[in-house]
Amino acid sequence: MELPVPLRQGVERLLEKVPLPMLKQAARTLSDRYRAELRDGRMHMAEEMAVKAYLATRLPATYAAVRASLDALSEARPDYAPKTLLDVGAGPGTVLWATLDLWPDLEQAVLLEASAAVRRVGEALATEAMTAKIAWLAGDVTIDLADLEPAELVTCAYVLDEIAPASLPKLIDRLWQLTDDTLLVVEPGTPAGWQRILAVRRHLIEAGAHVLAPCPHEAPCPLTAPDWCHFSRRVARSRLHRLAKDADVPWEDEKFIYVAASRQTASSRAARVIAPPKSGSGKVLFKLCQKDGSAGEKLFTKRDGDAFRLARRLDWGDTI
Ligand SMILES: C[S@@+](CC[C@H](N)C(=O)[O-])C[C@H]1O[C@@H](n2cnc3c(N)ncnc32)[C@H](O)[C@@H]1O
Repeated sequence: MELPVPLRQGVERLLEKVPLPMLKQAARTLSDRYRAELRDGRMHMAEEMAVKAYLATRLPATYAAVRASLDALSEARPDYAPKTLLDVGAGPGTVLWATLDLWPDLEQAVLLEASAAVRRVGEALATEAMTAKIAWLAGDVTIDLADLEPAELVTCAYVLDEIAPASLPKLIDRLWQLTDDTLLVVEPGTPAGWQRILAVRRHLIEAGAHVLAPCPHEAPCPLTAPDWCHFSRRVARSRLHRLAKDADVPWEDEKFIYVAASRQTASSRAARVIAPPKSGSGKVLFKLCQKDGSAGEKLFTKRDGDAFRLARRLDWGDTI
């Protein structure tokens, strides 16, 4: 999955004259802070160079994860096309770009972001081609949500790992109150990210939400540690991305986990592929999360005819 062309070009312009050694150092520091899930009272992206490192090394991956999560919720509700968006911890506007890519008729977006350096970059990247009315707000998601207006789509992508765990239940309550229709939360696809999404999912179900995706049910998650639910998207690495990370491979696999919860029920529910399919000659085996709340396996062989031919095209994260 690639960034939309105007976003990619905007990022390239912002990164044009950045000295590579500084970018590399900033990318290393950012990556170390994210890996350690460091919460030391400082923002990971307080400095402009950290924001540039994010644009070069993280934005393509978080964009791909958000876009894939939006696709999954749209598949569960094909008639849903939100006109209003509230995105908290907006970073450089990742969710806004992904939402506009899927629903170009979005009319209004409010983006809340604590870091002034990131907000500046997000505003610079947003183009005149965006017809939606966009407001960037300075604020802390744990304390500054009181005066916000509800939106049809509320999102929080790759933010919960930066928030003190004790603040999460209140934050999720407030985001749900602000949700007129659907709330999407995306996290890194690590065991810790999955645990956070599980807690969010439980909390929202207790509040009366319907799960649109990825789970085709509201029963407790059937997976148990050390297994964990997550998905993956292959992301092309730009030349600068490879240089910033001293990486040879022109792509990376972004692991992510998400939950889309709604005030509306899903139009349809289907089992979801929750691991890479295992293909052999004349057969393909899927690990599935199923409508009855269980996890199970399903084997398709040549003898299944058309169903087998269709199944062979399915990938991790697809519905079946
Ligand atoms: C990993 S970035 C994700 C950005 C974007 N949502 C994405 O998916 O690419 C997390 C963002 O959340 C912001 N953030 C972290 N804690 C916050 C808080 N308490 N209030 C508002 N924003 C916060 C950070 O400044 C950063 O821009």
